[in-house]
Amino acid sequence: MTLEGRRILLIVGGGIAAYKSLELVRLIAKSGGHAVPVLTAGGREFITPLTLGALAQEEVHEALFDLSAEAEMGHIELSRSADLVVVAPATADLMAKAANGHADDLASTLLMATDKPVLMAPAMNVRMWLHPATQRNRARLAADGVAFVGPGEGEMACGEFGPGRMAEPPEILAAIEAALGGARPGSGPLAGRHVIVTSGPTHEPIDPVRYIANRSSGRQGSAIAAALVRRGARVTFVTGPAVAPRPAGCTIVEVETAAEMLAAVEAALPADAAVFAAAVADWRVASAGNSKIKKTGSAPALTLTENPDILATIARRETGRPRLVVGFAAETDDLLAHARAKRLRKGCDWLVANDVGSGTGVMGGTENKVTLITAEGEESWPRLDKTEVAERLADRIAEALA
Ligand code: C5P
Repeated sequence: MTLEGRRILLIVGGGIAAYKSLELVRLIAKSGGHAVPVLTAGGREFITPLTLGALAQEEVHEALFDLSAEAEMGHIELSRSADLVVVAPATADLMAKAANGHADDLASTLLMATDKPVLMAPAMNVRMWLHPATQRNRARLAADGVAFVGPGEGEMACGEFGPGRMAEPPEILAAIEAALGGARPGSGPLAGRHVIVTSGPTHEPIDPVRYIANRSSGRQGSAIAAALVRRGARVTFVTGPAVAPRPAGCTIVEVETAAEMLAAVEAALPADAAVFAAAVADWRVASAGNSKIKKTGSAPALTLTENPDILATIARRETGRPRLVVGFAAETDDLLAHARAKRLRKGCDWLVANDVGSGTGVMGGTENKVTLITAEGEESWPRLDKTEVAERLADRIAEALA
């Protein structure tokens, strides 16, 4: 009963996947939670308020300007009395409205009025999902702190194939549990603590159109930030241009280069702990100019210069050093020997060593196999989903700061 006592405001949009949200209501109840349903005009075309209300054992909210409903519970209160707002299915239109701050019906107004984390389960035709407008809206929402589950890939109701299928109800339930898993805001083992997390790759410009990058997806960093938020921490999430969704409930600082990342981390201090999960580029192009390098028939010679080491800079600060500094080491050979040496060289307290050799699928993938190296010793964890690695690490951080 992991959702015991939790209220979930469930906004059901107008998509064929709305029928799956009925199953989601059942799963939320089975997990001890309580779904408060909101049905959009589009959603009403696919399922009836009667079915939704009967399953949720709750009145279905539909209208923005409904005097009797407003007298009982206004839309502001409705959006804030929940612990989490879930949009399933999140249609292209609902995403567009939320991304641009529209508030012209009950669902979009609730999304504007809420001060709670928001989780969206998109569902739409593959072309609509891949449309640049939807992708722009998704990125905008993620930057605003909205979490996403799915969409999955597969055969769609419209007969096409590709990404756009709503995540299955058990998967959405797991995302809800993850979003609410630990502490309520302001409580939990890390309440009152500030943690900085770096994540993703950095992009180092070669000229205005080209850059040097790496394969980091930002998944591990996002998962760590989310796990810390669930334990009540205030998290500043400094991320390079990563594909992974931004974690909900953090202060998000988007950067591009290593130099910008260092500046953002320093600006976020003081902190109780800092976790450096970003795959920072070690070098940048010394003379990245404002003009595009022309193709002349002979390849240009790029001179590289070393980037600041953010982890080492923070770990070696004389004043204002976070109490716990955690680094990551992605290695392809002699993992542990290199990682042990790296912990000492960088001056961090803990080092999370992971093997990113070819064939491991770790870099950019969803799983990770790590060894935690501390001054006290080493722990080798089994191959786990990155979210599970994050949970364990967050538990250890909470213990260390207790
Ligand atoms: O030296 P290496 O890049 O393998 O070290 C990895 C660790 O150092 C990671 O925690 C990474 O975030 C951090 N790092 C950094 N700034 C750099 C290079 C790496 O913070 N310029």
